[in-house]
Amino acid sequence: MISQNSIQQILSRIDIVEIVGSFVKLKKRGANYLGLCPFHNEKSPSFTVSPGKEIYKCFGCGASGNTISFIMEHEKYSYVEALRWLAQRYQVELEETEVSPELKQYQLMADSLFIINNYAREYFTDTLFNKEEGQNVGLSYFEERGFTEETIKKFQLGYCLNTFDAFAKSALDKGYNLEYLQKTGLVTIRNEQPADNYRGRVIFPIHNQSGKILGFGARILVKSDRAPKYINSPENEIYIKSRVLYGTYFARHAIDKLDECLLVEGYTDVISLHQAGVENVVASSGTSLTQDQLRLIKKYTKNLTILYDGDSAGVKAALRGLDMAIEEGLNVKLVLLPDKEDPDSYVQKIGAEAFREFIKENKQDFVLFKLHLSMQEVGTDSNKKSQLVNEIAETISKIDKAEDFTRQQDYIRQCSQLLHIDEQGLIQLVNKFIRDRLVKREQAQARNNPAPDDDGLSEEAIAAMEAAETGVSVDSLISGHEKQEKELVKILLRFGDKPFSEEENNTVADYIFHLPYDFEALAESDVVKRILREYKVLYDSGNLQDKRWFLYHEDQVLSKQIANILEDREADLSANWKDRFEIDTVYGDNAYLQDTISTTNYLILRKIKKLIFENQEEARKATEMDQIMACLEMQKHLNALEKELTNGMGTVVFK
Ligand code: CTP
Ligand code: MN
Repeated sequence: MISQNSIQQILSRIDIVEIVGSFVKLKKRGANYLGLCPFHNEKSPSFTVSPGKEIYKCFGCGASGNTISFIMEHEKYSYVEALRWLAQRYQVELEETEVSPELKQYQLMADSLFIINNYAREYFTDTLFNKEEGQNVGLSYFEERGFTEETIKKFQLGYCLNTFDAFAKSALDKGYNLEYLQKTGLVTIRNEQPADNYRGRVIFPIHNQSGKILGFGARILVKSDRAPKYINSPENEIYIKSRVLYGTYFARHAIDKLDECLLVEGYTDVISLHQAGVENVVASSGTSLTQDQLRLIKKYTKNLTILYDGDSAGVKAALRGLDMAIEEGLNVKLVLLPDKEDPDSYVQKIGAEAFREFIKENKQDFVLFKLHLSMQEVGTDSNKKSQLVNEIAETISKIDKAEDFTRQQDYIRQCSQLLHIDEQGLIQLVNKFIRDRLVKREQAQARNNPAPDDDGLSEEAIAAMEAAETGVSVDSLISGHEKQEKELVKILLRFGDKPFSEEENNTVADYIFHLPYDFEALAESDVVKRILREYKVLYDSGNLQDKRWFLYHEDQVLSKQIANILEDREADLSANWKDRFEIDTVYGDNAYLQDTISTTNYLILRKIKKLIFENQEEARKATEMDQIMACLEMQKHLNALEKELTNGMGTVVFK
């Protein structure tokens, strides 16, 4: 764990222009800097860096964030890796706080495995290029397959001699621990002796995203029924198969740039395509995709194109993962290769140019492919057909991100045509799946944290259900309320420490937290709740950090949301008054005072309106006289409160 103190030191030195400027050529434009976006291909610059706000934003592709998220995105680093990178850059000595003994043990083990793998990689490369058997057997095999020396070196391919224990001996001589050597799978015990596991095989190192070696695939050279074609490293502390895709290290920049990830099955497919100049490609290594692997892809792009041989078991496996990919928000396309070809053989046969053309021409939508395939199977069986319609509706319903709404509609239209069913009917069926899922999610949430006066569904869920009926995006339905809540966060982060009232000698944060309302409880947005909670903790401990603390929050999702909140001009009340009504507020530069009052009042008023509504409901249901009287009493009180608030707000316009 890096200490808070070190993190603060790094944050205080961050200069976004300098850091981003070392990856992107920036030109000054007014208060900002402008350059070509590193996250998508563009000819004219739309990537802006604002030193004042310490954020970047691309108006072309929408990428945005702060210095740390820039490093994370650009280099595909974790938060901690990005901090380490910055620490090195600014020569900040990192203080590490105590780690637990288990974690320390784990880190030591992981480090040892990386060191051994690296040693093995060097050893096998050396064998390939410098030993007679390596050259005659290994190198000539790769050459026969058409791999150039440059390619072999780039992928750090190697060869393991066909001896009992040449590698094991050398590693043990170097002092590497036998137990660890076994853990990596490089050495096994045979006849009670340490022996080489990859004897007489060519070696494909498997890299992590920063180029360190997680494990190996070792391919046999001759066809054999007795030995497996590949021996792969066993799972251990560093090699967890379900989280690795072969080739990400070499493909990451190309995937980013081209905004598309090609997926193939084998090591050799990745290598051949790279050699042909198609670099945005990774391999699943012959298994079906896991959720972790899909998320790994999503770090780089939303567009996944699967390149499989039409008959392969791979397509069926990929089909099984389709709903999962769609839930992850991926846009999945499929290219079926001609019979008996894999990407490696095909690109070598027709050449790079024709291969790229082939991909372009033959790319089909995976959802529609699934539909075509299933329709062939269904034939005229009407039972099977209705099952298929249900399946397709469920698949489509998983496209539930607001931004993909048009894609969902496209699918509905196309599928209803292909299936010869009524489009409206399919819409309703899709909506039913969405509704069912929402209700389930809500119920699960209610079970986890039951609220006594809760009738099960939150306003958000109801809004979502209504939206599902009408086809209106859920986001826009709930955004009105949220704007005001976010405005409160913005005020706190920007002006929390500014003076509020001279008489009271208090700050904006003092004012907000001393009102007799708990805004965390009043807020409906989880993000807003969370920021308010964290802010309050810092405030209570007298330890209020400036907005940077939140902008560089460890949780990147939160820090992005905060950057967006701080960015959102629309939520800027006073700016809107100026633009829309051409009036300056009486407070001039101190418009934040007006914003503070109107925003807090809005939220309180919203609460009061809700109470009034609930009170009326109660009065309606009441049967006893004194119950009704109590409700009326309450009503009077609430009405007075409401009036007081609306009067107090004078000219404030509610949005
Ligand atoms: N694979 C494996 N174990 C096997 C067979 C295959 O781990 N016994 C994995 C490997 O990651 C391999 C991928 O599945 O790269 C695809 O298999 P295949 O197409 O048979 O291998 P290729 O890599 O294409 O090898 P080649 O082109 O030499 O046949
Ligand atoms: Mn192959």
